[in-house]
Amino acid sequence: MCGIVGYVGHRPALDVVLGGLRRMEYRGYDSAGVAVLDGAGALTVERKAGRLANLEAELDKVGRENFGGTAGMGHTRWATHGAPVDRNSHPHRDSTQRVAVVHNGIIENFATLRAELEAAGVEMASDTDSETAAHLIARAYDEGDTKGDFTASVAAVCRRLEGAFTLVVTHADHPDTIVAARRSSPLVVGVGEGEHFVASDVAAFIEHTREAVELGQDQLVVISREGYEVTDFHGDAAQAKPFTVDWDLSAAEKGGHEYFMLKEIEEQPEALANTLRGHFESGRIILDEQRISDQDLRDVDKVFVVACGSAYHSGLVAKYAIEHWTRLPVEVELASEFRYRDPVLDRDTLVVAVSQSGETADTLEAVRHAREQKARVLAVCNTNGAQIPRESDAVLYTHAGPEIGVASTKAFLAQIAANYLVGLALAQARGTKYPDEVAREFAELEAMPAAVHKVLSTVEQTRDLGRRIADSRAVLFLGRHVGFPVALEGALKLKELAYMHAEGFAAGELKHGPIALIEEGLPVVVVMPSPKGRAVLHSKLVSNISEIQARGARTIVIAEEGDETVRPFADELHRGPRRPDAAAAARLHRAAAGARRGDRPRPRVRRRQAA
Ligand code: M6R
Repeated sequence: MCGIVGYVGHRPALDVVLGGLRRMEYRGYDSAGVAVLDGAGALTVERKAGRLANLEAELDKVGRENFGGTAGMGHTRWATHGAPVDRNSHPHRDSTQRVAVVHNGIIENFATLRAELEAAGVEMASDTDSETAAHLIARAYDEGDTKGDFTASVAAVCRRLEGAFTLVVTHADHPDTIVAARRSSPLVVGVGEGEHFVASDVAAFIEHTREAVELGQDQLVVISREGYEVTDFHGDAAQAKPFTVDWDLSAAEKGGHEYFMLKEIEEQPEALANTLRGHFESGRIILDEQRISDQDLRDVDKVFVVACGSAYHSGLVAKYAIEHWTRLPVEVELASEFRYRDPVLDRDTLVVAVSQSGETADTLEAVRHAREQKARVLAVCNTNGAQIPRESDAVLYTHAGPEIGVASTKAFLAQIAANYLVGLALAQARGTKYPDEVAREFAELEAMPAAVHKVLSTVEQTRDLGRRIADSRAVLFLGRHVGFPVALEGALKLKELAYMHAEGFAAGELKHGPIALIEEGLPVVVVMPSPKGRAVLHSKLVSNISEIQARGARTIVIAEEGDETVRPFADELHRGPRRPDAAAAARLHRAAAGARRGDRPRPRVRRRQAA
């Protein structure tokens, strides 16, 4: 996730901003940049791909004395739109070079805005969505109702933006002011003596002040040396939440958590929402990059998902939905095995390579092997510009933000969502789903962040369970259907984090051997399916639990809210949100954007003629 810092005060802005960026390096980034206002109408910008050290070396080269001034801003970028190269690094400026913008988030309607700007003769200097904001603000400042009013110009543009954003904006005509705004992306104000800060998190400024103000949704703040003022996007005064930071620097970097992994677990709803955002427009699923034709997608007659570890489990979860939606056979393969077993591939095979890093050697080699066999490759990746997406024919990015904790949490969930989007994209291309059905499935996916948020509110119960089973010799995980790969992932997490022996099984396999492992007191975690959605599997799993309970195992059951059938068999019951029922799904469906059934005929899947 990008790091943002802005400063107006009495110190040299360049030093403050670089210091802030250094303290936000933990967020992960692939380029960095700064802008400084010198007070006499000059706005100086420098930006560089790669580490902060590259930017600092460039500043030394051009001369830091050119960056004198006590107002400025900086940005570390985690690439989303456009590769991590100098020209896509922030700050972005308008054509007159008087407005500079740094941005965190995704502007969903950027394609429309960009087209509008290009039609008006604006030449884009980058591939980013962020640059559009700089041009729009400059135009709003130069003409119309908001002419000459910097704050009103930013507010007017915010009202036009769709998606998630934190924007920090400077204007050369207003060297003592910075305007910042947020929607669904973090922004805090640091309140000092004769100086004020804006930043993506408090780590950027706690060296200077511990007094902070957290902005609410759709709020805008103007900072100067003297103070700060918070309004909504219509210019009306708004309440923001003041607080005093009592974390030390190391805790501040982790958002107040003890470990990065805990922070990332908390970021899961946001990671999911960001992954879905921008991938469904005008009733259609949109990939980020597509270097193959729609016809090639229509011609796909078999899908392989190749990945390692958690990414592999995400493929196993999605297989059920992709097969159901597309009626295509889907095989999920460990990338480390794939190329050694002569898989049957041809130009109608789609290989979906799932990788958070985009650099995992086995997955990369699987991609290369698939391409040698003329198969098409679609990458699901969290790292813009990494090797796997570069070598693929199409790409769908998970926008989970960098995962610093080694154990995958938010990236795993984002991969599941992205794999579902791939399934819907294929169903849409092949015409196995009507547009309104795609819209309804997408609406169900959009309900996931709130559901995950709800699960996170029960974290204390899980923490307590962890303490109680920490001394167990082993832990088993059982599930059926999608609950089976979830059980595999649960076991993987326990192995790599708690160094405990843990195994995941398909519950139906118990009687074929693993039941021998069940002993008195052994914790067995059971992932229950929905009693309504999967009634048959549910009752089968209930009988599996009663069997293992009869053998003395300690049953820890994860079941849907309201599922009371399992209670007698659960030594411990953990609740998950209810699967959307038909009425909720219908409501979601109605709310979903997109075409209605019958808007266009179901396209026919073209069958390739035998040679
Ligand atoms: O970067 P990748 O998604 O390709 O990494 C694959 C696996 O190494 C990874 O998913 C690993 O299993 C998890 N970090 C474990 O939590």
